[in-house]
Amino acid sequence: MNQPPRRPQTDLRNDQGTLEELIAQRTAELNLLNAKLSKAQEHLIQSEKLASIGQLAAGVAHEINNPIGYIFSNFGTLENYLTDLFRMLDAYEAAESAHCNAQTLAELQALRAEVELDFLKEDIPTLMRESKEGIVRVRKIVQDLKDFSRVDLNPDWQFVDLNQGIDSTLNVVNNELKYKADVVKAYGDLPAVQCLPSQINQVVMNLVLNAAHAIGPERGKITVSSGQAGDTVWIDVSDTGSGIPPDVVPRIFDPFFTTKPIGKGTGLGLSLSYGIIQKHQGSITVQTEVGKGTTMRVTLPITQPAGAQASDGTMTQ
Ligand SMILES: Nc1ncnc2c1ncn2[C@@H]1O[C@H](COP(=O)(O)OP(=O)(O)O)[C@@H](O)[C@H]1O
Ligand SMILES: [Mg+2]
Repeated sequence: MNQPPRRPQTDLRNDQGTLEELIAQRTAELNLLNAKLSKAQEHLIQSEKLASIGQLAAGVAHEINNPIGYIFSNFGTLENYLTDLFRMLDAYEAAESAHCNAQTLAELQALRAEVELDFLKEDIPTLMRESKEGIVRVRKIVQDLKDFSRVDLNPDWQFVDLNQGIDSTLNVVNNELKYKADVVKAYGDLPAVQCLPSQINQVVMNLVLNAAHAIGPERGKITVSSGQAGDTVWIDVSDTGSGIPPDVVPRIFDPFFTTKPIGKGTGLGLSLSYGIIQKHQGSITVQTEVGKGTTMRVTLPITQPAGAQASDGTMTQ
């Protein structure tokens, strides 16, 4: 008879139900917001990093370019002058025995011995040649840095020779590679590809550095190849390094995921690369075997689908 009213209980259950729903909804919203925030942070880091590297490289290249230019040109002139001076010196030497008295001859002889004239004659051209080689190398590095950053050119979508970009990038990071691995280049014929060149260079650099890091104490091999497949092109970076364990593979593109010690890896290289390649409507894939090595493949459309290139071509400014 006096049954307790059931309504309040039902209400309470309903309230609990809505509360849980509300919490679930809020959590979902928060998660979404959080994901958006991480994405924004990732973009910020990406643009900042690219911009600073690009600007630094371009700035240094620009500053060095000018002095190197006149050193190189003066060197050529100096070489000509020296040749003339040596000719003159030879003439004096030939004339001295006919025109000098014994005492002057002895003095000249002593001086010649003191300054080691014969050695100078041999060594000066060698020094000149070696210095010239050095300057030519510096000029090449500067040119590579300029090509690599391309900040001096229009930082917009351009049709470029990707093989040339890969070459410049390999030269820029050569120092990191040369003690660890032999670098094999196997470029195919590529058409000009529409891209943001400095960002593609950045991707290649990340892949090549990862390849180098994956190689242990024993000298390894890094192969960079490229080719065309239909209306796309591909770039492969293969290494004979450690390979990536299957449980790690799904995480390598995550921002801040790294297996490297603190200070060595930022865990950003691949996530930045992924973002860049996505912006290019391309793809980046991995093939790997533990103990054998890894191949990272970047595929890019030769021409950007209509409208795609409008999206943020200003990243490197
Ligand atoms: N070629 C490779 N060989 C082996 N492991 C790799 C290779 N490339 C990437 N990885 C793995 O992916 C992780 C993330 O790479 P990345 O985003 O470039 O960050 P970082 O190089 O700073 O660690 C690396 O720490 C490494 O574990
Ligand atoms: Mg890396």
